[in-house]
Amino acid sequence: MPFTLAPELHAQPTPFYHYDLGLLDATLTALQQAARPRNFQVHYALKANVNLPVLARIKDHGLGADCVSGGEVQRALEAGFAPEHVVFAGVGKSDAEIRLALAADIWCFNAESAEELAVLNELTGAQGRTARVALRVNPNVDAHTHAYITTGLEANKFGISLADLPAVVAQFSSWPHLELVGLHAHIGSQITDLNVFAELSQRLNELQTWLESQGHQLPHLNVGGGLGISYEQPDGQPIPDFEGYFSMFDRHLVRRPGQQVHVELGRAVVAQCGTLLSRVLYVKQSQSTRFAILDAGMTELMRPALYGSYHHIQNLSSTAPELLYDVVGPICESSDTFRKAVALPETRRGDLVAIRSAGAYGEVMSSGYNLREKVAAVYVGE
Ligand code: LLP
Repeated sequence: MPFTLAPELHAQPTPFYHYDLGLLDATLTALQQAARPRNFQVHYALKANVNLPVLARIKDHGLGADCVSGGEVQRALEAGFAPEHVVFAGVGKSDAEIRLALAADIWCFNAESAEELAVLNELTGAQGRTARVALRVNPNVDAHTHAYITTGLEANKFGISLADLPAVVAQFSSWPHLELVGLHAHIGSQITDLNVFAELSQRLNELQTWLESQGHQLPHLNVGGGLGISYEQPDGQPIPDFEGYFSMFDRHLVRRPGQQVHVELGRAVVAQCGTLLSRVLYVKQSQSTRFAILDAGMTELMRPALYGSYHHIQNLSSTAPELLYDVVGPICESSDTFRKAVALPETRRGDLVAIRSAGAYGEVMSSGYNLREKVAAVYVGE
């Protein structure tokens, strides 16, 4: 079903984010139906969306929290996630962030370098504690996604490279305040070719066997996130293929008895339940192009400007025959373009426009550039 807006929301000042909590619930139910029988623990990657009503639903469905900053750790705790279900990842954790996570006694740090491990050991020791650590490896597996959201290649800044891993593992015993509990990898985001996850599983199998040969039994494996969604057909496939995703790992990842496998999904959980609503300010006809100038721009949804990414766009106010529009925002940047040559029913000033699949990496990436105000969020299906 194409997106529709409740009549009472037509008068809501624009732009605003609209979250369908009913769809979020259905997505979370499908997710856990695929994960639980296969014994996967799901941590929601807060970086995709940190709104409290969204987090409350996610927590209620029994997910843990994957955080990449002190702010996210705090938000997860505020939303009611138990500290023992919080992991803290990130290539550049500050001392203050590490201390905050230690004080909260979160479940695990995903550590990305020997340098970070040394600092973690020192700060943990200073508190007379022990921290649980998973080593984030860079498995050199190509996620076949946008270069800016590819993280698992040798050239990316993330994780411990395969070449450096032996030295890090050999050094581990010199960090008495750290307990090695797992292996972690995340190779990228918006992954639509599920075979990539088979390749990742195989690489993790090899690494696990090697770590065991070095005397390290791992109670946990964390395969990261990255499951993609259909930006082209948000209505055709509102809920991602969780069955396909988990069965891929189930078939290819070799688990030890009693070993727990964790995943960190962000986009696949929240993207389709969020829509950016905007109003057409002007329709401007130049010699070559017809522009629909919206009151939302890259300050509200940065993905098209940053990655050239596609978001489905609907005019909710018009049923006239279609014309082609370059749909743009009001910001003083040429990259402030949602998409060029979009077929929309004839569009006029005041029409409401829905920009779909914006629940993940939408509102969280908004900025105050041009002194724009932060937009409102509206929740339906509560
Ligand atoms: N785990 C780690 C270590 C990550 O770095 C990420 C995402 C995730 C999990 C969650 O990935 P997901 O399941 O959402 O694909 N702003 C970009 C996406 C950046 C993703 C960063 N890391 C976008 O708008 O496409």
